[in-house]
Amino acid sequence: MTSRFLKIAVVYFVIGICMGLYMGIVQQFQYTTVHAHINLLGWVSMSLFGIIYYIYPTASQTKLASIHFWLHNLGLPIMQGTLFVMILTNNHSLVLFTIIGSIMVVVGAVLFMINLFSHSANQASSSHP
Ligand code: HEM
Ligand code: HEM
Repeated sequence: MTSRFLKIAVVYFVIGICMGLYMGIVQQFQYTTVHAHINLLGWVSMSLFGIIYYIYPTASQTKLASIHFWLHNLGLPIMQGTLFVMILTNNHSLVLFTIIGSIMVVVGAVLFMINLFSHSANQASSSHP
């Protein structure tokens, strides 16, 4: 779970900063929110998930962790992909998908919280630094 989250996080990081660089160069800031969430839900949040699942290996091996992984990794591209297309085409036709993607991310976060509270007691791995 750790390596899956960290590898995907790095991909989002590269995409996010390339996007920021492009926005800065061409002075087009309408995509700022997509850039911010690709970096924050993609790079930052997924790095934290990866690190936290490393610290709590028991939590990382649960079904909840797997469902969290998929909800976040399907929800985020749906949410930000549809938002990006809507800004690009200047219409709101895909907003339902943005909402569905956002809800998937939020539900994933709630499962992550439940998982961590259920499986982290005294589980901080002694074998890891
Ligand atoms: C080389 C890397 C990056 C470049 C060139 C870049 C560039 C930009 C630009 C041009 C904006 C728009 C500023 C504006 O609207 O006035 C912006 C906004 C933003 N960026 Fe980046 N960015 C980079 C990396 C990051 C990273 C790594 C993060 C998060 C971890 C991040 C988070 C944000 C956020 C949250 C905003 C919105 C700020 C606000 O609402 O005022 N950026 N960035
Ligand atoms: C499902 C999860 C999330 C949803 C639905 C969401 C939604 C939103 C919305 C609607 C805005 C206002 C955008 C605008 O004014 O154009 C916003 C702004 C912002 N959010 Fe989120 N957010 C989420 C998660 C997060 C997370 C996890 C972080 C940080 C770790 C974050 C950081 C920010 C920042 C820095 C801004 C201001 C920059 C900008 O987008 O203009 N958000 N968010």
